[in-house]
Amino acid sequence: DESTVVLGIETSCDETAAAIVMGGNDVVSSVVSSQIEIHADFGGVVPEIASRAHLEALNPVIARAIVEAGIDEQRIDAVACTHGPGLIGALLVGVSAAKSLALAWDVPYVGVNHLEAHLYSAFLEDPTLEFPMVVLLVSGGHTMLIEMQDHGRYRLLGQTIDDAAGEAFDKVARFLDLGYPGGPAIDAEALNGDPDAIRFPRALSDDPDNLDFSFSGLKTAVMNYVRKHPDVSSADVAASFQMAVVDVLVTKARRAAQVTGAKGIVLGGGVAANSLLREELLGACAKDGVRGFLPSRSMCTDNAAMIAAAGWYRLASDGPTDLADGAHPNLKL
Ligand code: KG4
Ligand code: ZN
Repeated sequence: DESTVVLGIETSCDETAAAIVMGGNDVVSSVVSSQIEIHADFGGVVPEIASRAHLEALNPVIARAIVEAGIDEQRIDAVACTHGPGLIGALLVGVSAAKSLALAWDVPYVGVNHLEAHLYSAFLEDPTLEFPMVVLLVSGGHTMLIEMQDHGRYRLLGQTIDDAAGEAFDKVARFLDLGYPGGPAIDAEALNGDPDAIRFPRALSDDPDNLDFSFSGLKTAVMNYVRKHPDVSSADVAASFQMAVVDVLVTKARRAAQVTGAKGIVLGGGVAANSLLREELLGACAKDGVRGFLPSRSMCTDNAAMIAAAGWYRLASDGPTDLADGAHPNLKL
């Protein structure tokens, strides 16, 4: 109920996180320890290194979340942890810790779907959001348009058939030598460029019924263009590439809202931090008379508050997860 205190744990990719959330939406504490610097030298997440880093960081991160919440650990009523999708070794670190704590404290364990948790991050900042709504989830691993009809009831409207949007940002940034992670680097570089300088392809955008995405051809188009025009300004390339990505994301989110009659469009995932995407989505929503909701950057990227929140709803609807349940690297929504 409203006083239920959930400890959330997240270790599915490259953030080690723990949070204390009360009643499903009151974030009492939220600690995120990022591995970005550890992986930067490799230009991407190295699974084996990620698992080790989670193992080292997790206990201190959990301890800090409890201290910052100013509560005694006896006050914790349930432990929720991401059990998929994600890197198997990384997931197992969190799941093993969560089950041990649940066993030691004699409280329920709840395995949480990381994607479902992203959908819940918006509710942490605005519990008054109305159903049905469309969620555009854009991260380094996922690009999805989801209709959320109610708590626990959603429909996948479309997703990427190849690269995720964030992956495209990372790959193009690496190609342009702009650094890692690529999203923020391109976002910054694009500020000095002309988004209309180069017309890059907008894949799968001719058929209005198609809500899937494809970014791998765009990445190749950028590479081919730069190889053919070695003197092109990288700011113009960054700005034009970013415009092409944002254009398809916003066009399809808009269509998704129209076909579902959604009251609003919510952004989630790391790419939701992109300044052009935020601006263009709000502009489109204003035109269409639907609500555009942009959670803060810290809520969009991986965190454990969203895991605890989703865990709270799951516990209320389905009860605890069996302690024999493990990690599910390919879990779907
Ligand atoms: O959700 P997230 O933190 O981690 C997962 O992938 O689960 O998302 C990370 C992704 C990276 O690909 C990163 O380049 C991208 O989000 N990103 C951005 C921006 N900030 C982060 N992409 C575009 N513009 C940004 N400002
Ligand atoms: Zn995520």
